Amino acid sequence: MGFVRGRVVMVTGASSGVGLETSKELARRGAQVVMAARNRERGEKALEEVRRAARSAGSPEPYLLLADLTDPTATAFLMERVRSRYRRLHVLINNAGGYFARRATTPDGFEHTYALNVVAPIRLTLGLLGRLKKSRPSRVINVVSQAHAAGVPDLDDLQMKRRKYRGFLQYARSKTALILWTRAIAGELGGTGITVNAVHPGWIKTAMGSSNPPTAAAAVFRFATALFARPQIVGSRGPAYLADDEQLQETTGEYFFVTHQRAPAAHARDQELANRMLELARSYDLFAQKK
Ligand SMILES: NC(=O)c1ccc[n+]([C@@H]2O[C@H](COP(=O)([O-])OP(=O)(O)OC[C@H]3O[C@@H](n4cnc5c(N)ncnc54)[C@H](OP(=O)(O)O)[C@@H]3O)[C@@H](O)[C@H]2O)c1
Repeated sequence: MGFVRGRVVMVTGASSGVGLETSKELARRGAQVVMAARNRERGEKALEEVRRAARSAGSPEPYLLLADLTDPTATAFLMERVRSRYRRLHVLINNAGGYFARRATTPDGFEHTYALNVVAPIRLTLGLLGRLKKSRPSRVINVVSQAHAAGVPDLDDLQMKRRKYRGFLQYARSKTALILWTRAIAGELGGTGITVNAVHPGWIKTAMGSSNPPTAAAAVFRFATALFARPQIVGSRGPAYLADDEQLQETTGEYFFVTHQRAPAAHARDQELANRMLELARSYDLFAQKK
């Protein structure tokens, strides 16, 4: 029997792609899936699919929560809803993420890629730490990307304010930042029964990047994706493995390429950068004052 059967698992970005497939897979494996989505219509459509998967396996009914995770007020409200509805949270899968070709900023002034790919998973993890502690053994899984190898982060310019914004570079850097934080917070939580790991789901045919302007580079990327990327269902393998495999009970602070534990790029293993990321991340905690 796997880890998730009968346990509460929250998946962000559950309305499409890797998040939707992971939600369905974990529902099939007996989890009580809590889906976080941004858009009501897409969220409800996805909920129907996950509900069918859950019912066919005799699993608990999934539940849908809505929030734009780049909005701090909506994120705080989402966490309050999770805390009031669930006394336990055993697995948090921080999957929502994206690649944005144009620079934009969020209501609280973060660059959008950084806000969604780094600040949101940190906020959710720190904000739900109480529930994760009560539910231990528990797991946090951060969906990152092998693209991090191309993104040496500049911790003095995480918002890419000083240099010209380049979407792919910022995407790669954001994933490096999240790997660094994963390693650092895993160290800090060592021995508490909460593990934190990062996973690259593979190159998957999803909607990622589809809202970007139709440039030549975007067309080449879409063409390559159509030729080489794997079907969406494959995207659930890595996150579902990390959530459900009983052997991983003690594994923490690691990077997985789908289901294979690997060393991330050297810059994502830099201890000094990881420590700085950990310090910086404390200021993202929406409930820090209440603690
Ligand atoms: N596809 C790949 O080849 C690949 C490779 C490596 C890593 N990844 C990572 O895998 C994760 C999932 O991506 P995907 O490929 O499945 O892409 P996707 O199909 O575009 O899914 C992204 C999910 O994130 C949600 N999301 C986007 N912005 C949000 C916001 N502001 N607030 C809340 N939710 C938001 C989307 O919701 P909406 O439905 O509302 O847009 C969607 O559910 C990402 O972290 C990505 O970086 C993907």
